[in-house]
Amino acid sequence: MGTEVENKMISGIYLITSKHNDKENGMIAAWVFRLSIKPQLVGISIGKTRYSHDIIKKGGKFVVNFLSSQDKDVIDWFGGRSGKDVDKMAKYEWLRDKTGLPILKRAFAYMECEIIDEKDAGDHTIFIGKVVNEKLVENKETIITREYK
Ligand SMILES: Cc1cc2nc3c(=O)[nH]c(=O)nc-3n(C[C@H](O)[C@H](O)[C@H](O)COP(=O)(O)O)c2cc1C
Repeated sequence: MGTEVENKMISGIYLITSKHNDKENGMIAAWVFRLSIKPQLVGISIGKTRYSHDIIKKGGKFVVNFLSSQDKDVIDWFGGRSGKDVDKMAKYEWLRDKTGLPILKRAFAYMECEIIDEKDAGDHTIFIGKVVNEKLVENKETIITREYK
């Protein structure tokens, strides 16, 4: 969703997972960006109406799960419905690492982040995360918006 011009902008597509108390959720995000080398910081821009928004805010952490062109089913599932209405997590398998947040077993790489700051950005909030753990499991390429119709 965007203007004709905005739709020409290219981004990777990622699964963002989060956890607050006993609530865990995953959502798809394309507005994910590197921000700083030292410290290693990444940003995610999350719509204020998303179920994930408050889980990320209150939990203070998120995981960027890397997806390839073989993971379009993951994008359909986590980007096409809300955790408000359905337990999206039950359909896939998860593993845990340093933060204890769910990591998609199929993800070819992941970054675990602790939120150090947030910025109001209109109808979205930009969460700035310090990468506290990352792993390249398999050397694949990240799916980009142009490849996902
Ligand atoms: C390709 C794609 C990219 C998306 N990028 C974002 C994004 O960057 N930020 C965002 O807030 N929502 C984005 N969404 C929408 C959310 O993934 C979608 O609203 C999801 O259902 C939210 O789930 P939740 O309510 O369980 O958190 C994207 C969806 C798709 C399919």
